[in-house]
Amino acid sequence: KKLIIINGPNLNLLGKREPAIYGSLTFTEFLDTIKSKYSNVHIDYFQSNIEGELIDKLHEVGFSYDGIILNAAAYTHTSIGLGDAIKGIETPVVEVHISNTFGREEFRHQSYISPNAKGVILGFGLQSYELAIQSFL
Ligand code: DQA
Repeated sequence: KKLIIINGPNLNLLGKREPAIYGSLTFTEFLDTIKSKYSNVHIDYFQSNIEGELIDKLHEVGFSYDGIILNAAAYTHTSIGLGDAIKGIETPVVEVHISNTFGREEFRHQSYISPNAKGVILGFGLQSYELAIQSFL
């Protein structure tokens, strides 16, 4: 299986950023663990703070990969463009969030990703990503 994890804005700061909400592990540390645990799965990783780069990456992988695990971060709640990109590609997308966005501010309750996603996993910390990987196996 060929999977990719795509992280949106500010997720490069994981480990440093609001650790009470997002934890103190960096994404690289987490990814190393997950890659060795699922060594039979091809797992690529891409992070960008730029909306258009996230859309370009979806186009690039969206016709050849088996699964996309997408945490669009703040763009989840604003980006019609990302939602349309998911509609336009063939590879199924599982939406993930580290925090339980429904327990937070009202503006985080709206998602332009969810209607176009195969499924949504949120609120389990970094484990949300692992559950998303398992959903493709
Ligand atoms: C997030 C939740 C979003 O509301 C927020 O903007 C993020 C991270 C999460 O993983 O919990 O940056 O996607």
